[in-house]
Amino acid sequence: MSTFKPKGPIAQEQLDLFMLTVWVTLGIFIAVGGTYLYVVIKFRERANDDRPLPKQGHGNPLVEIGLIGISILLLVIIAVPTLKAIWYTHTTPNNPASQLGNWYTGEGLSEGEDDKVLTVKVIGYQWWWAFEYPQLGITTANEMIIPAGKAVHLELRSVDVIHSFWLPRIAGKVDLIPGRTNSMWIQAGDTFEDWQARHAPELDAAAAATAYESYLRDEIDGYYYGQCAEYCGDSHARMLFRASVVSDAGFAAWVADHKQGNDTAPEGQSWADWYATYDANPEALTGDLNEGLKLFVGRAQCNSCHAINGNPRVAGVGGPDLTNLAQRLSLAAGWLNHHNEDGSIDADQQLDNLTKWIHEPDSIKPGNLMWVARDGRGIGQLPVEEQLTEEESRKIALYLQTLK
Ligand code: CUA
Repeated sequence: MSTFKPKGPIAQEQLDLFMLTVWVTLGIFIAVGGTYLYVVIKFRERANDDRPLPKQGHGNPLVEIGLIGISILLLVIIAVPTLKAIWYTHTTPNNPASQLGNWYTGEGLSEGEDDKVLTVKVIGYQWWWAFEYPQLGITTANEMIIPAGKAVHLELRSVDVIHSFWLPRIAGKVDLIPGRTNSMWIQAGDTFEDWQARHAPELDAAAAATAYESYLRDEIDGYYYGQCAEYCGDSHARMLFRASVVSDAGFAAWVADHKQGNDTAPEGQSWADWYATYDANPEALTGDLNEGLKLFVGRAQCNSCHAINGNPRVAGVGGPDLTNLAQRLSLAAGWLNHHNEDGSIDADQQLDNLTKWIHEPDSIKPGNLMWVARDGRGIGQLPVEEQLTEEESRKIALYLQTLK
């Protein structure tokens, strides 16, 4: 999460501005502190010191005007780049490289969006993130997917209190405020034009394009850590998120996969068949996965808040979208991790995390709404006799692990 290792133009701009301010203020510190030290040492009282006091004086127009002038100059040196950076980071660039029509190769793009950049609506909840892609008709939660080297426009809103979007190596921070929409743009890595101008002006177009591809693949594609940066209640510190930066092809594949969703029941049954059995004779549905799913759409009522694309009876609102949940490398807004160093999923850890999160969410994220609170709080509350046992939570977790 270091802001000193920027991976995009916004984070770079912010780092440059920070370093400029550091150098200017370091200069002031050395000049003032150095003068102070020099005077304290040179004019200190010595043993048996009978030298007369130095000449006492008040006011020196030259010094005073000089200090005012230097202060103004230093402020201007900081203010001009600051204003430039504010304007630069505020307005999403609509460069050809970032326009959807020029890089998005998948299906399902809304009409009239070809000449616009990708827009993601970021919605803050206590304490998780929804990421909606309105131009593509999909929604995900806590782990956003963005293409490398393209400007992405973010619209930031909150449903409850003020949160703040901060993706340290790429961009930040802008607040999510109830009742208004803020915006910002982010971009992981440079566009081709910027990259070529900076790194390879001498290469011909074909060679530069190849070098740019490997730059994106080796240096930019990856898994970035984000964090809510505005105190927002009990579990503010556990309101994390992730951004996966992928290739154009990877992004199109992700969209297609997400749109299709989880469109078969356990053992490859169609949803029509599964729900027909479930309605007529649920005892016929046996085994951990079927039992987990029966709890999910039955007693535990998970589908009253959560949605899963492809499943006709799981279309709740208010909670995180669970489509392809098992592909995510973390759970509970980035607080529980189950991925290895190489980015692969540790299935045992994933099962443990899911089970624990379903069984005792309050111990992982105090105050969250899935909380089964003994004192009557939490919308996920069930009467004590209906609360899920650890074994039942594990069965739901086993089912959720098939969502990929
Ligand atoms: Cu949301 Cu802090």
